Amino acid sequence: MESDHLGKVGPNSTPTRVRLIAYQGVVPSVGDYVIIEGDDEQLLGMVSDVTRGAIEFSRTDLIQADYYDRILEVVEKPSQWAIAEVRILGRLEEGKLVGLSRRPPPSGANVKRAPKDVLQGIFSPPEGREGIRIGKLMSRGDVDVYLDPDNLIARHLAIIAVTGGGKSNTVAVILEEILRMGGVAMLFDVHSEYVGMEVDCEGCEVEPVDPILDPNKLSKDELASLLGISFRSAAKMYIYLSRAYNRAKSLLMKDSLADVLREADMKDYNSKDLLAGVMALLKLTVREEEGLGIPLDSKKDRESVYSLISRIDHLMSVYGKILKPGAGDLTDHLDYGKLVIVKLGQLDLELTDVVVGKNLITLLNKSKVMKVTGERLIPNPVLAVIEEAHVLLPPGGDTYTLKAASAIAKEGRKFGVGLCLVSQRPKKLDSDVLSQMVNKIILRIVEPDDQLYVRRATEFLSEELTSYLPSLNVGEAIVVGPMIRTPALVKVRLFQGKAGGETPSAYEAWRRGKEEKSLAKPDEDYYSSIGD
Ligand SMILES: Nc1ncnc2c1ncn2[C@@H]1O[C@H](COP(=O)(O)OP(=O)(O)OP(=O)(O)O)[C@@H](O)[C@H]1O
Ligand SMILES: [Mg+2]
Repeated sequence: MESDHLGKVGPNSTPTRVRLIAYQGVVPSVGDYVIIEGDDEQLLGMVSDVTRGAIEFSRTDLIQADYYDRILEVVEKPSQWAIAEVRILGRLEEGKLVGLSRRPPPSGANVKRAPKDVLQGIFSPPEGREGIRIGKLMSRGDVDVYLDPDNLIARHLAIIAVTGGGKSNTVAVILEEILRMGGVAMLFDVHSEYVGMEVDCEGCEVEPVDPILDPNKLSKDELASLLGISFRSAAKMYIYLSRAYNRAKSLLMKDSLADVLREADMKDYNSKDLLAGVMALLKLTVREEEGLGIPLDSKKDRESVYSLISRIDHLMSVYGKILKPGAGDLTDHLDYGKLVIVKLGQLDLELTDVVVGKNLITLLNKSKVMKVTGERLIPNPVLAVIEEAHVLLPPGGDTYTLKAASAIAKEGRKFGVGLCLVSQRPKKLDSDVLSQMVNKIILRIVEPDDQLYVRRATEFLSEELTSYLPSLNVGEAIVVGPMIRTPALVKVRLFQGKAGGETPSAYEAWRRGKEEKSLAKPDEDYYSSIGD
């Protein structure tokens, strides 16, 4: 028997599953790949579970270890057996993985370990193309696993794991590989943990940018949403806002906002600021001067305009530090071979939501316009990565980011905008959006609810594989989706560049702090010497 022969197909095989009865002394490992010799065809399968036992111990009445000892005295070495559940992944034709066979393999068929070259062929990019080298097969440390960039962008990606499971490392590895190919990416860094990241590839660039929002580029509805109003919830306010917006926009284009600002006693405001223009027009309207050009008939009308003014005032004072009229878009920073990191660490949740949502929509809209007009507005295709996605995309939530992410999840494929969501709490992520992240990298997950949730949202993930999620080590992942030829258990490689935020050591920080404190303490002898 050759050493790579593992055993035979047991009874009751189906076109998608077989039971592998292993030869004596052979113990298949979960995640390993096997080749099944079917009727005139070769099938590739993955071991999803293994059971072991010994023939001499198979009597169910052996309920004390003493019995085992006595048997061992007689037989010395018990005859171990192993049975593995194998999931069939497809047929192999000239080293390539093709669709499933419609017939189950026959009982007694040979099962052998898949050779390295066959696996390497399956997990490598097609000849003449590059792939995203993410790591190695967990069960075969000598087989590199590559992801397909086209399918990653087109079908999006979710990276899920408990805290410390290796999500950010995976993100860094993927981004570096994408940059190496000349790819374009924007990372929304909710905790500013990637600041300081450096990639190890020639000609690649990483630029951390401060979050900004150009009020002049907000659409009417975006502005309304920032102000917390909609036509449905506050029709009057919405109509006044809409009028003021249109007027202010046309004045801004004619470069004559300064006049209205002066009339409204707002001359200190920026005459290129659409928002200030909107506020000035509303102020003039309540003073019954020429503002919106409509009279306010009732007390209620006046109250609506007052409320709108105070909302804009609040917006300007709270969001003042990121509202920069005429500053352009963050998407202007994008380039081929470049990662733009949007530093969101110092912003509160509301603001983070607006910045991420606005930029996502800008990415999508610009890409759409480009497709229609052929005009080059941004480098494309582009990958947008959202860290801590559960915060911004709560189930059925009303966040700006959720609306934008849903639009990209649905339409991004056509316009070259890919989305990558990173989260430690999949259960707290909107299920609609998560299920549209067809590619998934699932690292260690402990929480049973989260496991169940991920399993429901993931086509391939079997019950047996789900049960391995809590026992995965840091960086070990189940990778599924069209970006990989066939699902795999992968050991993600450790990012070799400079990662931004490594886990700080409490011990080191305390020790250093204590040392510095003692150095800063005045020397008692010094004081006593002054007294002399
Ligand atoms: N593939 C890997 N191989 C070896 N070590 C790894 C790997 N991935 C991560 N680590 C180690 O684990 C630590 C935590 O990883 P990482 O920051 O990627 O986790 P995370 O899931 O992003 O955590 P958090 O939820 O806190 O952001 C890293 O500092 C790194 O040292
Ligand atoms: Mg992280």
